[in-house]
Amino acid sequence: MRRTHTCGELRPHHEGQLCILQGWVHRRRDHGGVIFLDLRDRYGIVQVVLNPQLAPEAHAAGEEVRPEYVLEVEGTVVRRPPGTENPNLPTGAVELQAQHLRVLSAAQTPPFSIADEGPIDESLRLRYRYLDLRRPSMMAHLALRHRVVKFIRDFLDARGFLEIETPILIKSTPEGARDYLVPSRLHPGCFYALPQSPQQLKQLLMVAGVDRYFQIARCFRDEDLRADRQPEFTQLDLEMSFVDRADVLALIEELFATLVEQLTSWRQTTPFRRLTYAEAMLRYGTDKPDLRFELPIVDVSDWAAATEFQVFRSALAAGGVVRALRVPDAGGYSRRQLDELTELARSRGAKGLAWAALQGGEVRSSFARFLTPGQLEALRATLDAGDGDLILLVADDARIVAEALGALRLELGRRHAAVPDDLLAWAWIIDFPLFEWDAEHQRWDAAHHPFTAPLDEDLPLLLTDPGRVRSKAYDIVCNGWELGSGSIRIHDRVVQEQVFALLGYSAEQAERRFGHLLRAFQYGAPPHGGIAPGIDRLVALLAGESSIREVIAFPKNQSAVDLLTDAPSPVSEEQLRELHLRIVP
Ligand code: AMO
Ligand code: AMP
Repeated sequence: MRRTHTCGELRPHHEGQLCILQGWVHRRRDHGGVIFLDLRDRYGIVQVVLNPQLAPEAHAAGEEVRPEYVLEVEGTVVRRPPGTENPNLPTGAVELQAQHLRVLSAAQTPPFSIADEGPIDESLRLRYRYLDLRRPSMMAHLALRHRVVKFIRDFLDARGFLEIETPILIKSTPEGARDYLVPSRLHPGCFYALPQSPQQLKQLLMVAGVDRYFQIARCFRDEDLRADRQPEFTQLDLEMSFVDRADVLALIEELFATLVEQLTSWRQTTPFRRLTYAEAMLRYGTDKPDLRFELPIVDVSDWAAATEFQVFRSALAAGGVVRALRVPDAGGYSRRQLDELTELARSRGAKGLAWAALQGGEVRSSFARFLTPGQLEALRATLDAGDGDLILLVADDARIVAEALGALRLELGRRHAAVPDDLLAWAWIIDFPLFEWDAEHQRWDAAHHPFTAPLDEDLPLLLTDPGRVRSKAYDIVCNGWELGSGSIRIHDRVVQEQVFALLGYSAEQAERRFGHLLRAFQYGAPPHGGIAPGIDRLVALLAGESSIREVIAFPKNQSAVDLLTDAPSPVSEEQLRELHLRIVP
């Protein structure tokens, strides 16, 4: 290499050294005479000075240079004159006094400035991702992601885990999302699927005796996209034999807590909180609560039952609940603000929002007229509400109430609860229900997946009351993000058959879908369990970003399109014919 130093490394102790730098022009400033260039590479930015007196040729070459040109500059490191140091730049105490300048590659004017950190249209960023990634903030994300994955590999290697690759072309066994399918040329009419996760393969590795497996695994799901969802994404996929729930939780807690401590400056809550699914749904209205603030939801069904308010009474009569949120410092909300909150509740399925604003000794309320003064007083006492507070209530079935008040809690918490922006509030959510009732199809669905083990104490309920069976599934949650899910798996054939029966699979259907796994379990399956934290979500959280696209080198947009290469795209008739496919318009 001709390069002697990187742009990011020059410091006062390099003063007097002759060095050769290669990099991109970040900025160019022509001060009528002297030209200043900020030269950038992955490691940082340094100022280059082109002085017409000292280096007329280099200066003349610098006249032609534009942002994003690739240059080689040879020169001497000098201290900047006092008063011209740049404290915002690690190299800001020095500059390179250029003697020679060579253009290695010219550049067209880029579609957006690399040097300005202002907002840029995301489509443009994705179309020119190689330019977007040049921005120091994006480069920092790539580096953080690398360090996170390396830390995970070293941590698990030290604990005896083997990293094993599993196939990308597998059998289609729809898990929750839609599969991406790959047509087979050699087997007309047959398809591979891309894995939604290596779930069944890692369980087979346990049957094989691997004992401790992990993989930085690419997963593919054809589902509706959001800020925290991509059609292809990466999991830390992990499975262990001869463990129970406590072992998996302890391992992952140690991994994440030490990772955060050693790689980042975040504060974090340790030990990680543990909440049952039922507690989380009741108190926070969601199974992925943001615990950087409390603002709890309170069940006031008993209080509501004693009122004459028809909205409450009919919800309760239908088996529903009435729950409340007390928001400090929101008692002065205007009618318009309250209407906006009502809209938010409605968007989450609520039929309405009952509110009482306590301000200046007065009560404004949408429902107080249906209460006796004593009942309003009792509500204030139950919620410990005082002047300046806003009380919000929703009556409906428990699921909708949780959805609506959970959304209000999040919105109002972020407005009023002084959420710390340097804290990771971790929690485990445990004791999920094993099944969810699918009202549309009138059947039970697996809440996690069909191999998740029931809690031992709930086994008898499998036959009598499936909806009440809790499972050995767990989620790791941080600041309102579901970072990962896992479970202890069923390794008992009888229990597995009971679960399949409840899910409505006949023996034959189970065989067709999962025959490979069920057969394996007949040859000595160790008790086992695992988890799969999402790497994209973890890194986005650590980077302080709200979209995982910010920490993926080449993500797809919200419509699953890769704007850089224009995938998906049509293919030739010839390719279709080979694959035995015809496009039906
Ligand atoms: P699950 O389906 O809950 O579990 O996924 C685990 C974690 O993967 C991440 N994730 C995603 N990240 C980005 N884009 C997506 N579309 C996406 N979907 C999921 C999330 C999620 O918490 N095999 C089981 C795990 C197990 O039981 O061991 C599984 O895949 O962070
Ligand atoms: P009404 O009797 O229609 O005037 O309703 C009185 C108040 O109850 C209004 O503020 C409604 O928005 C509110 N409300 C209606 N349905 C519900 C519900 N399901 N839960 C909570 N409040 C509701």
